[in-house]
Amino acid sequence: MIKQITPILLSLLTLMMVVSCQKDENNSGSNLDKQLQDALLAASQGQGLEFFTMPASTDLDRIPQDPKNPLSEAKVILGRHLYHETGLAIDPKKPEGKFTYSCASCHHSRAGFQAGRKQGIGDGGNGFGLTGEGRNPNSLYLIEELDLQPIRTPSAMNGAWQPNQLWNGQFGGTFLNAGTEASWTEGTPKFTNHRDLKV
Ligand code: HEC
Repeated sequence: MIKQITPILLSLLTLMMVVSCQKDENNSGSNLDKQLQDALLAASQGQGLEFFTMPASTDLDRIPQDPKNPLSEAKVILGRHLYHETGLAIDPKKPEGKFTYSCASCHHSRAGFQAGRKQGIGDGGNGFGLTGEGRNPNSLYLIEELDLQPIRTPSAMNGAWQPNQLWNGQFGGTFLNAGTEASWTEGTPKFTNHRDLKV
């Protein structure tokens, strides 16, 4: 039986290889590539295609940063620890929630630094899963006691290239927020924009 099937399988495999190696006719060769390259060059602010290459995460000099608070290897390591540090979770709604949440509860690296579920759960969440999908409300908490955000958790990745933050863009004193100083009211989080932190 195996002897009879083997030649058929082999010819099928060969056919699949031939088919998959054929050029995609709809792509019409390099024309699309050229169009894409031209569009990228036009958007590169005169810097060429290299403008779109991300530096390595260890190449700190090439990452946008606040000149008043320059990056260093030690700060990066400290940030990574603080970001995952459940020891900072000292003010939960219920004693059982103590030390059970961190930034990574809602911005999980394996979920592209998003929550991995529709709404991230900080305090009052339980578990994790492989990509954040296994974080669920702790049964000891009422739904209204959960630290749930009413909006999807955005990725916290590569924020250095993002002069304005949050879905409504309210954070950051430059770029789209330049000229909106009148709304940076004292006593609100937007007041922080006056600190003139730059990327
Ligand atoms: C309970 C879930 C939750 C926790 C915990 C949490 N975040 Fe967020 N984060 C969110 C949500 C939701 C938003 C979007 C809010 C908005 O746009 O109104 C957000 C926005 C952000 C943004 C802006 C991203 C962008 O593209 O604009 C950054 C950066 C960020 N968080 C970092 C952190 C850090 C650092 C911590 C820990 C100190 C943290 N978050 C803890 C849910 C969470």
